Amino acid sequence: MLRWFRSNKCKKITEAEQEPGREEGVDKEEAEDFIRLYHAENPSAGSVKPRLRDVFGEISQTGTYTHTAAELAFGARVAWRNSNRCIGRLYWKSLRVRDRRHVDTADGIAEECAEHLRIATNKGKIRPTITVFAPDTPGERAPTIWNDQLIRYAAYLNSDGGVVGDPANIEVTRMARRLGWRGHGTRFDVLPLIIEAKGGLTAHEVSPELILEVPLRHPEFSWFAELGLKWHAVPAISNMCLEIGGVRYPCAPFNGWYMGTEIGARNLADVGRYDQLPVVAERLGLDTSHDRTLWRDQALVELNIAVLHSFAEDGVTISDHHTESRRFIAHLEKEERNGRVCPADWSWIVPPLSGATTPVFHRYYDDVQLTPMFSHRSRE
Ligand code: ARG
Repeated sequence: MLRWFRSNKCKKITEAEQEPGREEGVDKEEAEDFIRLYHAENPSAGSVKPRLRDVFGEISQTGTYTHTAAELAFGARVAWRNSNRCIGRLYWKSLRVRDRRHVDTADGIAEECAEHLRIATNKGKIRPTITVFAPDTPGERAPTIWNDQLIRYAAYLNSDGGVVGDPANIEVTRMARRLGWRGHGTRFDVLPLIIEAKGGLTAHEVSPELILEVPLRHPEFSWFAELGLKWHAVPAISNMCLEIGGVRYPCAPFNGWYMGTEIGARNLADVGRYDQLPVVAERLGLDTSHDRTLWRDQALVELNIAVLHSFAEDGVTISDHHTESRRFIAHLEKEERNGRVCPADWSWIVPPLSGATTPVFHRYYDDVQLTPMFSHRSRE
């Protein structure tokens, strides 16, 4: 897969270079690009030359180098700024960065993830947060989390081939069970964290009091609550690698807040996920005998109204796709005023509901991949 381009030079990153393990160590050119970027955007950090000399010296001796706390925080925020698929980047500067690079045991990581959830959830006033654990070093792989988010619902395969729960998590559920975890068998069993550290895999239960969830109801239809649907408050991605100046942090869970459509138009609506549109349509009494009645579209709108209404009523931060689209355009214009391009992937930025009613639909974007960045880890 040769689809990544690094910085404005559009240098292709080959598969071999992406591989974790890093026998060859950190690429000095990548380190230099980052240190220069950091100093260019942070003039108060002093002169770049001595810092570069130190970084190069450290790479020559050890094959890698250590970011200062300020470089790490800047790198993590810019990785968010460079996330082509994310519509919510207006607040990139406000990301809270928890520097936990010294934590490299499975138990330590599980504890810090719990603390991350407590801080990020903030009783519903969601705070964008990242916790950065140990980086890969030459010859030693850092620990990783196998779940794609800190909070994910299990999936159980029925004997008739049906699935109870979130079909997106079949594999990780299987692994959790192999590690001895037993769920309750409901549609919304929160999976344990599966952490790989020092060659071993372990499962770690997330304490229920850390998991804020919102039961879904509808402002007009009282039957909606009977569907028994809910979703968790904090989307915290845990399987992406934070790459800063040639250093890879494969365990760096981060979260923002939800945009309603992620839940209402994808997680609960996709046929390959909770597939709830036929259920909602039936309760609405819609004619589902033909596509042209637009029963799916009508059900989709009611489901999304329920998501936004329930989160708002419970005081849990969420945004609707109209507001978030406007914010994204504001972000893009601000970036351009600052002399930067705002790279974006149209197919991810445009919301999955009412796309053309939002301003993000009606334009094209530069889709270059800048660094620092969040990349998908390859797990072999
Ligand atoms: N779409 C994913 C989900 O529904 C979450 C991705 C990150 N979303 C966010 N708002 N930060 O769980």
